[in-house]
Amino acid sequence: MKEKSQKELIITIDGPAGSGKTTTAKILAERLNFFLLESGKFYRFITYWLLTNFPKRAPNFFFQEKEENQKKLLEEIFKSLQIKCSITGTELWYQNRELKEELRSVEVEKFVSRIASQKIVREWVNNFLRFLAKGKKIVAEGRDMGSVVFPNADLKIFLTAKEEIRTQRRHLEQGLSKEKVQELLKKRDELDSKREIAPLQIPEGAYIIDNTDKSPTEVVNLIQKIIEEKIGKIGLTDEKW
Ligand code: CDP
Repeated sequence: MKEKSQKELIITIDGPAGSGKTTTAKILAERLNFFLLESGKFYRFITYWLLTNFPKRAPNFFFQEKEENQKKLLEEIFKSLQIKCSITGTELWYQNRELKEELRSVEVEKFVSRIASQKIVREWVNNFLRFLAKGKKIVAEGRDMGSVVFPNADLKIFLTAKEEIRTQRRHLEQGLSKEKVQELLKKRDELDSKREIAPLQIPEGAYIIDNTDKSPTEVVNLIQKIIEEKIGKIGLTDEKW
């Protein structure tokens, strides 16, 4: 394992939409007193920003811009963002308010995977995530946390669940019809797994947990067991960001 600063400890949780990553990561981070890095929010924020600031042009226009202009846009997008990280999650603030349901709108769901497939966007987000994680104890959740962003993580988890269960979970959360949820979820899964750069995949050395028949608490108990066997007792942190 690569040498790390003594304080740094990284647990990654990757998996497809509705696999329970966020719920699991939240409970785990609170139990361990680790920071919770929700990487998907950054891709959602970029998509939301483009939809908000260029409402007449679908974020697709971003693809047509020259790299130089894409860079300028990303600079502007990240300049307008404030971040608050804690053991309960990653809050993204824009124009003095926290973005919550805005990041989960149908419009954002529709475009986010295409935006996230762009090399320049991924480089930007990844650098940011690594900067935020430096020297910290964190739980990082997303699609490529264990494979690309933190390949030297101390523990890697890959969560899965049957598609119908994942659809059902999102249906209850989002209040959209099951058909609509399934359509959006399938499309995103396909784009995320087939994209050229950093596709959703099981990271090398990851523990795979299928939580189709498990409650979030059961999954977290299982992860804690793995932690105790693999890393030993983890010292709790009282640092603040
Ligand atoms: O919660 P859910 O799994 O539905 O989505 P999310 O984690 O908020 O991620 C939203 C989208 O961002 C995903 O469908 C991916 O297209 C993209 N994403 C990514 O490409 N890489 C990550 N590490 C996290 C999210």
